[in-house]
Amino acid sequence: MCGIVAYIGGEAALPRLIEGLRRLEYRGYDSAGVAVLDGEGLWVRKDVGRVSELAGHLQGGPGTQVGIAHTRWATHGGVTQPNAHPHTDGTGRIAVVHNGIIENSSEIRARLGKRGVTFKSETDTEVLPHLIREAYKGDPLQAVRDALAHVRGTYGIAVVFADAPDVLVVARNGSPLVVGLGRGETVVASDPQAVVAHTRQVVYLQDKEIALVTREGVQVSTLEGREVQLPVETLDGDYGLASKEGFPHFMLKEIHEQPRSIRRALRGRLQLEEGNAKLGGLNMTPRDLVAVNSVISLGCGTSFHAGMAAAMAIEALARVPARAEIASEFRYRHPIIPRDTLYFAISQSGETADTLGAVQEVQLKGGEVMGVVNVVGSTIARTCARGVYVHSGPEIAVASTKAFTSQVAAMLVYTLMMARCTNLSLEQGQLVAKALDAVPGAVAHYLSEPGPIEEAVERIAKARYVLFLGRGFSYPVALEGALKLKEIAYIPSEGYPAGEMKHGPIAMLDPGTPVVFVCPRDGQTEKAISNMMEVKARGAWLIVIHTRGDDEVARLADLAIPVPETADFASPLVTVLPLQLIAYHAGLALGRDVDKPRNLAKSVTVE
Ligand code: F6R
Repeated sequence: MCGIVAYIGGEAALPRLIEGLRRLEYRGYDSAGVAVLDGEGLWVRKDVGRVSELAGHLQGGPGTQVGIAHTRWATHGGVTQPNAHPHTDGTGRIAVVHNGIIENSSEIRARLGKRGVTFKSETDTEVLPHLIREAYKGDPLQAVRDALAHVRGTYGIAVVFADAPDVLVVARNGSPLVVGLGRGETVVASDPQAVVAHTRQVVYLQDKEIALVTREGVQVSTLEGREVQLPVETLDGDYGLASKEGFPHFMLKEIHEQPRSIRRALRGRLQLEEGNAKLGGLNMTPRDLVAVNSVISLGCGTSFHAGMAAAMAIEALARVPARAEIASEFRYRHPIIPRDTLYFAISQSGETADTLGAVQEVQLKGGEVMGVVNVVGSTIARTCARGVYVHSGPEIAVASTKAFTSQVAAMLVYTLMMARCTNLSLEQGQLVAKALDAVPGAVAHYLSEPGPIEEAVERIAKARYVLFLGRGFSYPVALEGALKLKEIAYIPSEGYPAGEMKHGPIAMLDPGTPVVFVCPRDGQTEKAISNMMEVKARGAWLIVIHTRGDDEVARLADLAIPVPETADFASPLVTVLPLQLIAYHAGLALGRDVDKPRNLAKSVTVE
């Protein structure tokens, strides 16, 4: 989703801003732009399309050393050149880039309109440069502070003034900003990825804080004007420029990385001898664990599906009630937050506004939320204070693959830890630990022999509609398979619990309709076989993901894709793999941009 980079230093700003935007491309965007000082004024270029296209139009741009840049993911107003950021005031001497949403922009527009301001875009953002212009009396920091007093909503902003060439002003409320403190240069960005090329010494702005940025550093204060000393932190994550390592796309690379990424989620956490596990970041004693009377996972999209798979495992192994909730719905239904419920906020990016909102609601009502996050230092990780990093490494493809399996793996570690205290004997705990320890090997084995994916794709790429079915642990996998196919190939598809098919979706089946049935051998296989018969009786084309060697199930399929045997609770970690590959190859077959599917963003920082 939208990205911000701002630079003030001793080198030409334009190439540095473009390099920063390139590092943010993975977040998803539809247009890009820059504004840099130009002699007496500002030089602004922006357009719909890729950062590389924008870079192609910057020949002959000024070599000045101060500027701001942005990648936009449309919310208010279509994908057009005027709607791209930066936005300027009427004189063109103040430029603003903005992430987030100004909720009262219509009121402000109407007010400014009456005072003769004309707008060039349909965006909510454009009110900001006009408000700042009205407030500007020669003090850039005060002007932004005064302007923001009129604004309701979320923002991360960076502002450049032609009349104050030695400063930038940035402010944050609900949209992250990190300030990189280099030698004689300061870089501000919405994501540490865009800062690390310059420095690893950073400060994270907090909500309702504003900062004056100079080449020498940053002075932070609250919006009310109280000075703030933020701790300088060192970025120690893996922020290298992501490489495809010989794969044609990041998505395929990330699918193939899963034996390693799952291993990282488990490493140092499983205790095979003790039949137990340890997640230091949760800081929970056995007494704390047994005091938990229910577990709720909060997340969106793929992370919600990971939470569903985890909740089933917690109920099965720990015998504690557990469920997953869609974070975007959670806080608006005035949820009851029992004291003895433990919440997990599952998020790859750690920046998803819906999930962050749910976390804040739980915290406000006195509940305990643990973060299950991939991006180190992200807002959700910091807001939760306690939690677990899933360590899947940077996920660049917009559609989540390796983060899903790492999230499930990390939650299964928690499950074992809790279950060992509540329900499992030493021997049972050892079996669970051993089963988890075997997963990376099983994943590697599957990826080396993925089965007839091409045949599946041949059918699916031509389909008008695809139904994904699964029971028990395979139900969240069916949901994830359908989501991936929609995202990457834009093929209408839905995931359903297999037993529920006869209550509606069966009406969608024509002769030849592809139905992908996720059916590893587990306690529900017999029931699943009956559901397969119902599919076959309608002449649909049945693709079955089954446990290698399970001929009873394989025989029923028009196309059988075997996966290695695992414990039932760990099966989502292998059964999801063919579904990821099907989505990837179907997307390719249809000529889609698989790493950057249309309309999607990697980091969804608006509600
Ligand atoms: C699916 C996908 C999205 C994300 C969702 C939550 O491929 O990427 O559904 O899973 O936007 O994002 P995070 O996990 O960053 O909170």
